[in-house]
Amino acid sequence: MGEFHYNIALIGFMGAGKTTVSRCLSRMYAMEEVETDVMVAESEGMAITDIFSKYGEPYFRACESNAIIALQDRHGVVISCGGGAVMRDENVENLKKSSRIVLLTARPETILERVKHSKERPILNGHMNVEYIEELMEKRRAKYEAAADIVISTDGKRVTEICEELVQRLKEITHDSRDI
Ligand code: S3P
Repeated sequence: MGEFHYNIALIGFMGAGKTTVSRCLSRMYAMEEVETDVMVAESEGMAITDIFSKYGEPYFRACESNAIIALQDRHGVVISCGGGAVMRDENVENLKKSSRIVLLTARPETILERVKHSKERPILNGHMNVEYIEELMEKRRAKYEAAADIVISTDGKRVTEICEELVQRLKEITHDSRDI
């Protein structure tokens, strides 16, 4: 087994850097990486945007919860969670069974810069502006923060810097009460 006996679950708003940080962590620590969005797209045989337009958001959320359940017996994996995943308490509970949860944050302006050309984020379709991002981020903030074991801000940092900070902080909390 590698450095981590638990999973590292990355959560946070769209464009907070989950996929990029996941790739970096998996390279640095030879960890397997999985994305809940990829699991859902594969199990449904279609892109996330198509799932939203064909079946609606509640159906997508059910698929997302199933993907998280499927991951609860895994160890040593980096899990990139879709940006809305921890809005459901059951998903947080299931993630906590085998993962440390890391919240990645960024300012709304930074998020917009990162996602403005994306056609793959149905939640932001027709709402590609700082005001909407800020508003939705505020609505989600309490759930993100409550779910997180640690919080890492990504603004103005290089990805390797973020990964090093993240691993350092995880090591600091490794001896806390939760034994996973
Ligand atoms: C969503 C975020 C997306 C994806 C879906 C819904 C959200 O994932 O799960 O479009 O509600 O924030 P990313 O955070 O990887 O973009």
